[in-house]
Amino acid sequence: MIEHQYHREPTPHIFFPELLPPKVYSELVFPDIRPAPKGRVGRDLYAGEPGYAELVASPGWRDLHRTFTSAEFVTWILTLFADDLARLGCKVNPSKAVYEPYIESRDMVQDVRGAISDRDVNALFTRFDIQVADNDYSRYVHLDRIRRVTGCLLFCSDYSEEGLIGGEFALYRDRLFASDRRCLWPKLVKTFPVRHNTGVIFLNANTAFHGPRRTQALAGFRKWVYYAISSHQPVWTAQGPSRSRELCFDAKKAAVAMWERLRPRIG
Ligand SMILES: [Fe+2]
Repeated sequence: MIEHQYHREPTPHIFFPELLPPKVYSELVFPDIRPAPKGRVGRDLYAGEPGYAELVASPGWRDLHRTFTSAEFVTWILTLFADDLARLGCKVNPSKAVYEPYIESRDMVQDVRGAISDRDVNALFTRFDIQVADNDYSRYVHLDRIRRVTGCLLFCSDYSEEGLIGGEFALYRDRLFASDRRCLWPKLVKTFPVRHNTGVIFLNANTAFHGPRRTQALAGFRKWVYYAISSHQPVWTAQGPSRSRELCFDAKKAAVAMWERLRPRIG
């Protein structure tokens, strides 16, 4: 469907070296997005909001949006990840999955509860969020919401044009992995630079630790689409908290605090 490069390690993911034919991509004009509350990165435009429908009907966007929000694309991605879905214990059964367009509102995005409705776990929808980040953008190493089957970034900007140093999308391992969907001791494994017309989709399994690397400089903006295939229900099973794990997190927090106090003296 789209040229793609599948990788199983460090966590199942697929790189898209070219999201759209170059001529089509060249027609895509990224919008100005004003800061607004309750979004993911501060400047977000979500389905159902003013200007969204017009944007995704415009040249370039039309093709990108149509492809990624189609039932065929969702089925294709589930097929590519089929072995991993079973191996990593995803509750979605690809043979029973049905694509049901659904608008998860700005308020709902913040919802970290298990289920957001009573729909069946195999009822899937997509998110296709327009995102803009400035110099303040930083995120810790994390997994996406437990209801997301996949997360994905579709880059619509280029580090060389935006004066971006750092800010690559990165995949990590947890050196003390415990399948509890929390990363205790991240080890950087793989990075993807912010380049026009490229993308990375990852299975949002318990191993899918990711985040942007620290932005060291950014004259313009980091612009991308956050795409996800999501269920209404939790699709992954996390190990419950344990006393030893909590002690490890407490010890890490204390060590980081001490390092922050000592660093100015060490220089
Ligand atoms: Fe994420």
